[in-house]
Order: sequence, then structure tokens, then C-alpha cells
Amino acid sequence: MTDQAPVTYAGPPRVLSGVQPSGALHLGNYLGALVKFTRLQHEIDTFIFVADLHAITVWQDPAALAQQTREIAAAYIASGLDPDKATIFPQSAVREHAELSWIFNCVARLGWLDRMTQFKEKSGKHKERSSVGLYTYPVLQAADILVYKATHVPVGEDQKQHLELTRDIAQKFNHDFNAPGFFPLPDPLIQGPGARVMSLRDGSAKMSKSDPSDYSRINLTDDADTIAAKIKKARTDPEPLPETIEDLAARAEADNLVGIFAALAGKTKAEVLAEYAGKGFGTFKPALAELAVEKLAPVGEKMRGLLGDPAVLDAILAKGAEKAREAAAPTLAEVKKLVGFWGA
Ligand code: TYM
Repeated sequence: MTDQAPVTYAGPPRVLSGVQPSGALHLGNYLGALVKFTRLQHEIDTFIFVADLHAITVWQDPAALAQQTREIAAAYIASGLDPDKATIFPQSAVREHAELSWIFNCVARLGWLDRMTQFKEKSGKHKERSSVGLYTYPVLQAADILVYKATHVPVGEDQKQHLELTRDIAQKFNHDFNAPGFFPLPDPLIQGPGARVMSLRDGSAKMSKSDPSDYSRINLTDDADTIAAKIKKARTDPEPLPETIEDLAARAEADNLVGIFAALAGKTKAEVLAEYAGKGFGTFKPALAELAVEKLAPVGEKMRGLLGDPAVLDAILAKGAEKAREAAAPTLAEVKKLVGFWGA
């Protein structure tokens, strides 16, 4: 961290975010990220990418990776992202991400990365066997954001620490290279009841692609019957729903289902409780299942339709990559000049 007083960034607002093509997308990704992308594209210049460089920080089958990338692009479009409004592209097709990431590797401090909780979680007991890429993952994330000088980053709550690191890197770069306000200090957009969706089997664990139980999550590709069955089986407690949010706090599973309902309905948790207080899960779960099927089943269906025509998806990704390169190249040229590279 530097002690420089932050100088306000004067450029235009821009949204950037991404999702890794490392497994099926679930309700957490949808509520924590995808629905926000769709909303924001109408308000701000929006860049949404498929984070394939990040995905290979853990092993990905080369024969499957390109298809996984198409699947994420299909999920973006199926959940409402419009390729004519938002720029949708694969990260690996824009080499400026990796190039800026190297420069940021020389700006970020080891001590900053040592604090990253996601690395600790993902590397587990076998830190020394993790890829170096997994360790420097958040530095690449900072490059993803700052190469577009993005000011707003819609993500789930688990990305908060990575966004703080991005701000630290931006601030140190601006300071070290005597370029006040060159990079913005981007704001994470995390708020709302969908920012941290928990497992349907355990209210203390995050809903995640890597949970071995498929009943812990609702996948975007699940059909209506599967969605309803998973909600029916979701863990709960025997009490009826309370009147206030405070009374939900100690009931993790109940809190999670109320949060999911609120996020899907575009309401607050308090509004959901106002409707369901005093009612048991025998009433609440079928209502939630109906709402989830109504919102999610069409997304899965649309995804399947889009994946049936990969040429269309590939054309969208190629066009997006071109637009993204046009936006990223000037930043990198300026950065090279600031760093003092020959020929820059
Ligand atoms: P990834 O692929 O793990 O997750 C994609 C998005 O989904 C959100 N998310 C959740 N939100 C609510 N509840 C959950 N249970 C849940 N699980 C996941 C994540 O917060 C994320 O927003 N590092 C990023 C990818 C990335 C990125 C970036 C994002 C790479 N570069 C630059 C923003 C900007 C990630 O882990 O994605």
C-alpha cells in the first residue's frame, strides 16, 4: 500500500466482469454475477469475458476447454446479455491481459498475495503442488479489470478480496510511475441478496461447482423437474419463517432460501418475509420451486438452443475479441511508455 492521497480518475465509467469456464454454472453464479451483467449493460459500457486464462490455473482438459468457453458465452446470452450492447469475448484472445499481468506481477507485493484467502482454500494442504498461476491468479484479475480502465466490477461476495487487491495494485502503479489518476480504483458491485448463495445441503458452505453433491446446487442447465426436486430436498429446519431478518440470522439454511427467493423475485429479504412470515417450509418450498423454475428453466433451454449452433457463438466471441483488443491496446501502450520500455 502507498500513502499517496488518491487522485480521482476522470475517465468514463465502464463495467467489466468474467466467469471461469471450469464447470457447469450454478444459481450462485447466476444471481451473484450474470443477472447483474444483464442489468448493467443498459446503463454503462459493459465488457464481459470468459476467464479461460484463469481456468487453466487448475487442470482443464484441452479437448473440452473451447466448448466450456462456448457454454459460458451461451449462459451470458441466455440470461439476457445482448452481444450488440455488451462486448463478450474470451480472455485468451486478448493478449493484453497477460502482458499487463506480468507488469502487475512486478507491482504487487508477495505479502499482499500471501493474504489471499481463496488461494489458501483452493490450494488446501498441497500448496507446494499448486500451479504458480493459481498463486498469481488475483494479479491477472487486476489486469483484466484495469486493462479496460473499468470502474465497476459486478461480482459475488467471494471476490471482494481480489477487488481490494486490484485497487491496491492500481494505486501503487499510479504512485510508482508518477501517473496520478491513470488507473481508476474500481468499485466492486456486490450488494443484494444474491451476492452469497449457499449450498442447498449446508447453509454454512458456499454454493460451488466443486461440491461433490449435485444436490448442493442448482445448475443453469437443470431441467424444471430437477430444479423442483433439489429445492424440495434442500436442508431446512422445522420452524416457520420469522417476522424479521434478525430472527433469520441464526438459521443459515432458512436464510439462504429466503435470500434466493428475494434475488429471483427482485425483492428484498424483508419483503419476502412480509409475505411468508409464520408459514412453514411446506408452503415456502413449493413457492420457491415455482419461482426458480419460472426464472431458470427458460435460461437452460435457451442455452441448449445456442449451443446447438456453435458457429453463431464463435462469431459473437470473435467480434467481441476484436472490440476488446481495440479497447485494451491503448492502455497497454500507455503503460509501456510509463514503465519506460524501449520503443514504447
Ligand atoms: P468464478 O467463475 O468462480 O465465479 C463467477 C462469478 O460468480 C460469483 N459466484 C457466486 N456468487 C454468489 N454466490 C455464490 N455461491 C457464488 N459462487 C460464485 C463469483 O463471485 C463471480 O462473480 N475470479 C473470478 C473470475 C474473474 C473475474 C475477473 C471477475 C477473473 N477475472 C475480473 C471479475 C473481474 C471468479 O472466481 O469467477
